[in-house]
Amino acid sequence: MIAESANVKQSNIAETSNVHDFATVVQSELQGHNFIGKFSTLTYSKLGIYSYISQFSVVKSVTIGNFSSISWGCSLGPEEHDFNRLTTHSFLISTETFKLLEEKVYSPFDKPCTIGNDVWIGCGTTILRGVHIGDGAVVGANSVVTKSVPPFAIVAGSPARIIRFRFPKDIQDALIELAWWHWEEAKFKQALPLFKEKEVTQETIEALKKIKDGKF
Ligand SMILES: CC(C)(COP(=O)(O)OP(=O)(O)OC[C@H]1O[C@@H](n2cnc3c(N)ncnc32)[C@H](O)[C@@H]1OP(=O)(O)O)[C@@H](O)C(=O)NCCC(=O)NCCS
Repeated sequence: MIAESANVKQSNIAETSNVHDFATVVQSELQGHNFIGKFSTLTYSKLGIYSYISQFSVVKSVTIGNFSSISWGCSLGPEEHDFNRLTTHSFLISTETFKLLEEKVYSPFDKPCTIGNDVWIGCGTTILRGVHIGDGAVVGANSVVTKSVPPFAIVAGSPARIIRFRFPKDIQDALIELAWWHWEEAKFKQALPLFKEKEVTQETIEALKKIKDGKF
């Protein structure tokens, strides 16, 4: 459902996705079961299934995987002004707004910004361009992420540093291999009881493997 007060342009929004009050979605794709929170902005971006963006966040030219949680007040993929030129001013890139030049001189989105699957980004966080956040990673509140984050790392601070990893290496590798976030809906729903468990053990991994191989 798209709220009446939302501003949605040139976007592909799945029927199961929701855009809340005063949110803006421009040239973006919401693949299903998503929500864009109040007053948030999503431009030139892709949001995989079940991923969501809470309120007052700005996401620009970012590809986000499935089942990722973006908290409130976050900035993902902010433009980079080219400070090697004579000016950093936006008249070089926002030609329609400032009307000084006929064509854009460069793109402020040149470097990619990508977020994997099952990523949790804490409130007030900034993820700069040129950064990839690996599958299963966690970014602590109010972090500024300047470098790519490996899968399942927990990072925090400004600049963000690795605090620790979510799981032992063998479990992380197995989860990457299983990639439950890409499973078809029926298989994923079969695995739902496993998501209720408090920890991820070898038994969890074995059960996931059986479901993946259709042996459950
Ligand atoms: C990162 C986080 C997930 C906790 O991870 P954790 O591994 O349990 O972290 P700990 O509490 O054990 O802290 C480990 C170290 O990291 C530091 N740390 C934790 N969170 C931090 C943050 N957001 N920024 C800076 N440092 C942080 C701690 O101070 C501690 O430092 P020390 O070793 O020097 O004492 C949590 O602190 C956090 O930021 N949660 C986000 C909450 C949020 O944004 N919710 C929004 C609603 S969705």
